[in-house]
Amino acid sequence: MASDAPPARVPRHLAIIMDGNGRWAERRRRPRVIGHRAGARAVNQCIDFCIEHGIGALTLFAFSSENWGRPEEEVGALMKLFLNALASEVEELHRRGVRVRFIGERERFGDAIRARMEHAETLTRGNATLHLSIAASYGGRWDIVNAARGLAADVAAGRIRPEDIDERSLGMRTALADLPPPDLFIRTGGDLRISNFLLWQLAYTELWFTETLWPDVDAATLRQALADYAMRERRFGLTGAQVSTPSSMPPSGTNE
Ligand code: IPE
Ligand code: IPE
Ligand code: MG
Repeated sequence: MASDAPPARVPRHLAIIMDGNGRWAERRRRPRVIGHRAGARAVNQCIDFCIEHGIGALTLFAFSSENWGRPEEEVGALMKLFLNALASEVEELHRRGVRVRFIGERERFGDAIRARMEHAETLTRGNATLHLSIAASYGGRWDIVNAARGLAADVAAGRIRPEDIDERSLGMRTALADLPPPDLFIRTGGDLRISNFLLWQLAYTELWFTETLWPDVDAATLRQALADYAMRERRFGLTGAQVSTPSSMPPSGTNE
């Protein structure tokens, strides 16, 4: 029987802070790196989930600008893990139609990691099933500073005037500008903060937090987040009456 209920709203773009790997390991009296390894397995499940549910874009926070300050041993172990994952997973991602890209200050990684990042991006460039963006050596403040620097260079070269700078031109220079902004943000691990993730892009994103540690995340956790998201009323600064009339909603374009 046909139902009058509108189709369930699925986020076009999901952004996740994958937190809690260290605590997951510590609770098992294991070194933190074991938690990071378990976290890498959860990433695969999450990618499958997005493909199955028709989520077009997934952005994962893998390593923040501030994470460089962790003990050398942990940073080293994470770099090894990145390198191995880039070698072992990319072909499979390509086979599944995933387009991979990296956002962040790439110059801070060693040559081997940078080369594998470039290889992954080039290989998967033509894929469109899922746009996977990995935020690595990424900070939201860095992203905005980087955009501002680009605009300043345009002004200095006489390509634009200072008064041409607006939300659109700055937004176009931030990471992921070609995607719709995240509809849904998830942070695992129980902390209620943004930790310098996509500061510009999250302006009107729906936020969802769970105590579940990242390595324990499974399809059931993600389904719960999606169910919660489907119930939210997104008003974008308007009134409830306005948003129930779709014609008055702001266009859901790219990240400008
Ligand atoms: C997130 O897990 C992964 C990275 C930041 C690299 P954490 O390593 O922050 O785990 P907790 O928060 O200490 O449990
Ligand atoms: C945020 O987690 C970064 C990543 C998950 C990659 P952190 O563990 O670094 O954040 P804080 O330190 O708890 O704010
Ligand atoms: Mg953490």
